[in-house]
Amino acid sequence: MEKIIIEGGKALKGTVRISGAKNAALPIIASCMLTGGRHRLHNIPRLRDIKTMKSIMSKLGVSFREDHGILEVNSDNLTSCETPYDLVKTMRASILLLGPLLARYGKARISLPGGCAIGARPVNFHLKALADMGVDMSLEQGYINASVDRLTGANIFFDLPTVTGTENIMMAAVTAHGKTVLKNAAKEPEILDLANMLRKMGADIKGDGTDTIIIHGTKRLNPAEHSVIPDRIEAGTFMIASAMTGGDIHIEGCRPEHLSAAIKKLRSTGTFVEVNGNGLHVKGTDIIESSDIKTMPFPGFPTDLQAQFMALMCIAKGWSMIREGIFENRFIHVSELRRMGAEIEINGNQALIKGRDRLLPAPVMATDLRASASLILAGLVAEGGRTEVHRIYHLDRGYEAIEKKFRNLGAAIWREKE
Ligand code: EPZ
Repeated sequence: MEKIIIEGGKALKGTVRISGAKNAALPIIASCMLTGGRHRLHNIPRLRDIKTMKSIMSKLGVSFREDHGILEVNSDNLTSCETPYDLVKTMRASILLLGPLLARYGKARISLPGGCAIGARPVNFHLKALADMGVDMSLEQGYINASVDRLTGANIFFDLPTVTGTENIMMAAVTAHGKTVLKNAAKEPEILDLANMLRKMGADIKGDGTDTIIIHGTKRLNPAEHSVIPDRIEAGTFMIASAMTGGDIHIEGCRPEHLSAAIKKLRSTGTFVEVNGNGLHVKGTDIIESSDIKTMPFPGFPTDLQAQFMALMCIAKGWSMIREGIFENRFIHVSELRRMGAEIEINGNQALIKGRDRLLPAPVMATDLRASASLILAGLVAEGGRTEVHRIYHLDRGYEAIEKKFRNLGAAIWREKE
C-alpha cells in the first residue's frame, strides 16, 4: 500500500497535459471484442482500471500489445465468455463486456458487479434492455448467465440516463438483427467517443449526444484505429486545484466544450478561466466566492467533480449548498474533509458548507476515486504541516501519475510506501 504526502501552501504554476479519458477508454477497449482483427487505440491512459479491464479480457482470450504508446487489441481467438469474480469486484465497469460478448458469441457469464462506496450501483437497466433484445438471463451464485441466438433490435427506454447502460446496449445493438432505438440515452462525451469508434468499425449509429440514439444492425464489423478523447474529469480536477491554490496554470490537450458546466461554475467563484482552443488558462483569486451546485447528467455539472468542488467551497467566502443528483451516497469524503477543519453539514443528498479561511493538515483516508482527489486538493492548501492521504490505490484507478503532474506545477507532493 502507498500514501501521498503533501506540504500545502504552494500556488500552482505552469502547464499540465491531460491524459486520455478513463471512462471513454474502458467501453472502447471492450468494443474491440465485437470483431476479430487488430484494433489500434491511441491516448489510452496508464491507469489501474485499464490494467484491470485488460486482465479480465485476457482471460477471455483477447491479446494486447503495446506499440510505441499505441495499444493493439486482437480478439480473434476468444476462449471463454466468463469474467472472474475476483477481478470484476475491483471494477464495476466490467459490466461493459456483457454487450460485446453477447453480440459476438451469444453467450456471457458475468459476475454481477456489487455496489461500491458511492452507491448500490444496480445494473437493472442494462439487463432489462438486453432482455428486450431477446437475451435469456438467470442469476446464479452472483453470476449473470446470459445467452441469445441472435440479438434483435428493440425500442429501449431508460428510466434514468445510464452512461454504461447506454454504452452496453450500443455495443449489443450494432450487429443485432434490425433497428434499436435508445430513448433517454446518456449524452456524456464518452458516449460520442464510443459511437465514433463503432462507426469506424462500420456500425450505423445516429443521434449519439442526444437523448435518442438510433442503431441499424449491420452484418459485419471491421477492426478500427481510434484516439480516445482527453479526460474531462482530470482537467476539471486541475482547474479546481488552480482555483484553490491561487495558482496560474495552463491545461493542455483538453476539450473545453466537455467542461462547460464546470467552467461556468468556476467563473462564478471569481476564478479566471480562459478557453484557448484545446487548452484552458485558469487563475485563482485571493477571495473565492461561494457557489451552489447540483450534480446532473451531462451537460449538467458532473458528479465526478462534486467532491473536488466541495474542497474548493471549504475555503470559499460564506455558505454554499451542494446537491448530489446522481448517486445516493457520494459524500464519503465529507468526514475526511472535516478532519482537516472543514465545516460541512449533510442532510440526505445535500451538503451545506461554511467556508473557512484555511484547512489544516492531517492524516486522511481515500475511500473512492474522486473522494481521494478532493483530499489531495485539500492537502495542497493545508499549510503548516503535512497531509498524508492513505489508500491511494483508489486514486491510481483514475488518475495517471497525479502526484508527478502536481509536482511539475510546483506542489510539494510525493508518494511513499505505507
Ligand atoms: C458512469 O458510471 C461512470 N463510470 C461514473 O464514473 C460516473 O460517475 C457515472 O457514469 C455518472 O456520470 C464509467 O463510465 C466507467 P450510471 P455508471 O449508470 O454508468 C442508476 C468515476 O469516478 N442506475 O450513469 O455506473 C445509478 O445507480 C466513475 O470515473 C440504475 O439505477 O453510472 C445512478 O444513480 C464513478 N440502474 C444513475 O443511474 C442501472 O442499471 C446513473 O448511473 C444503471 C444505473
